[in-house]
Amino acid sequence: MSDSFRARLRALPDFPEDLPDFDPAAAAQDPAELFRQWLSDALAAGVRQPHAFSLATADADGHVSSRMLILKDIDDDGWQFATARTSRKGGELAENPNAAMNFYWPELGRQIRVAGAVVQLSAEASAADWDARPASDGSSNPAWQLYALKPREIEFWQARADRHHIRHRMVF
Ligand SMILES: Cc1cc2nc3c(=O)[nH]c(=O)nc-3n(C[C@H](O)[C@H](O)[C@H](O)COP(=O)(O)O)c2cc1C
Repeated sequence: MSDSFRARLRALPDFPEDLPDFDPAAAAQDPAELFRQWLSDALAAGVRQPHAFSLATADADGHVSSRMLILKDIDDDGWQFATARTSRKGGELAENPNAAMNFYWPELGRQIRVAGAVVQLSAEASAADWDARPASDGSSNPAWQLYALKPREIEFWQARADRHHIRHRMVF
């Protein structure tokens, strides 16, 4: 059973052959700009939810958890997402502000990792985010919180067919 599952996993497709080029030396210096370019590439390649990422958080004892979220914006405050303050991740961020985001776009063989400390944005900004949801019915949600992750490090990763994968790491 386990052997056949192992064989099945090993037989699954790898990255596509026709991967895009990536030259970090010629890339936009501003990571937000580079991310926006890569997001456009992802949309053009048919990636369905390129703004979805996994967010890893940890409690005060270092127990880690992760889940998928939607990116709301990138600006001077940081890389923004929203969730209920009363959720598990909300509690973990209150105990320990350090978190890590991971975007993965298989069609392009691209991964983007962003790690740093998370802060809460204003009640006004949080309410505006709640109201702007497609499912908004005009009701308020006092637990809804907009957060911003201020990057300490970012890595743009490009898979290559020759396996010399490219890692473009920035530390702030
Ligand atoms: C693609 C995708 C996007 C999601 N986006 C959000 C989001 O933006 N905010 C949110 O609170 N939950 C979002 N969720 C649900 C979370 O993954 C998670 O189940 C929920 O927030 C509870 O997480 P927690 O118990 O770790 O706090 C999304 C799930 C998926 C699969």
